[in-house]
Amino acid sequence: MTLAEQFTALDDFLFSTRQYWQCTAFDYDELPWPTLEPILAALTDEQVAELDSDQDALYRFFTPYITGLENLAGLCTLVTAQVKRTEYPFWLSNGIKGRKFEQLQDFVAALGEQTKPVLEWCAGKGHLGRMLAFNQAPSVHSIELQQHLCDQGQHSAQQQGLAMRFSQADVLKDDVSNHFTQQQHAVALHACGALHQSFMQQACNAQTKQISLSPCCYHLFTDDVYIAMSERAKRSELKLRHRDLKLALQETVTAPSRVAKVRKTEVEWRLGFDAMRKAITGSTSYVSVPSVNKAVFSDSFKAFCAWAAEKKSLELPQDIDYEYFLQKGKIRKKVTERIELVRHVFRRAIEVWLVLDRALYLQQQGYQVTVKTFCEKQLTPRNILIQAHLPL
Ligand SMILES: C[S@@+](CC[C@H](N)C(=O)[O-])C[C@H]1O[C@@H](n2cnc3c(N)ncnc32)[C@H](O)[C@@H]1O
Repeated sequence: MTLAEQFTALDDFLFSTRQYWQCTAFDYDELPWPTLEPILAALTDEQVAELDSDQDALYRFFTPYITGLENLAGLCTLVTAQVKRTEYPFWLSNGIKGRKFEQLQDFVAALGEQTKPVLEWCAGKGHLGRMLAFNQAPSVHSIELQQHLCDQGQHSAQQQGLAMRFSQADVLKDDVSNHFTQQQHAVALHACGALHQSFMQQACNAQTKQISLSPCCYHLFTDDVYIAMSERAKRSELKLRHRDLKLALQETVTAPSRVAKVRKTEVEWRLGFDAMRKAITGSTSYVSVPSVNKAVFSDSFKAFCAWAAEKKSLELPQDIDYEYFLQKGKIRKKVTERIELVRHVFRRAIEVWLVLDRALYLQQQGYQVTVKTFCEKQLTPRNILIQAHLPL
């Protein structure tokens, strides 16, 4: 299957199933799909959590109930980069945490041999750039917003005798187009949303020979309504919004049990307060309350409601039945989790759709493009690598 065919098949499937994922769980007091209600209601909270942490099990569980789902795993499967990690001396990996270092090792290995000067986009401290410089890249030019990260990166590179320089810039405001050249390998690892989109556009404008990127946080620095990059995706009937793009990032990372417990209380209390607010004001839609120090959730529900009411300029009557609304919150949490579970069936599909939009855009600009996974999901769920080169 070509990338365009894969995109079209995913696009059709996502469009025909949008009632299952293009929604906001907090908006509902009850499950919105009568056909799924019995199987969702029969799941224990533990079963919900188990299914949520195993994407293949999730596909299998819902396949009898959602038309076309049997093909989804195949449509989301990408080639795995065959990588052999290079070993690095200890001084190079100093200051890079374990999983991040393994992720970088796999990314560098998947990029293959370095023959061109590298432009490293949104580099942070330039860990990636240093590894590429160590791996024979003739030179590395790293662009980064935060001056102190540029300084630290430059200091490390100098100490380690690596051919690397930094430029501080806000790539969304400053004109950095002159940093892109033809004879270059432009690399962006986990540059968020508009940061990697602008990277791709500028690299294409400069006819940069080689482009490699692993996108992330597709919604950041962009308008709420998604603007497709490729002509093919522009013709799609899907209209994606931030809420949908965030779904692409919702792979479960198993939180330590204490964190998970606080999170459970937080969701129950927020939903309980929301039910209270609706009862008092007569409003029917969910209104979020700002995030707050987690210590609040080891106090009482009543105290949380007092805090939240103040934030929302809401006067709470004296005779509120807190226990009633707390129970409401607990029931709504169950509903919310089951709606999220159904939405999560589609999270990787949305991400692959977004990645293919980027890949097709690069093809449209004359590049030969491959899309692979470069590391295990456990190292990072944002493990997709788009590689593009201009044919000679
Ligand atoms: C998620 S980190 C990725 C860092 C590095 N590429 C990596 O994978 O380890 C994103 C980096 O982008 C930088 N950044 C954010 N907005 C930026 C902007 N407008 N211009 C340049 N860099 C930016 C941040 O400071 C941060 O260092």
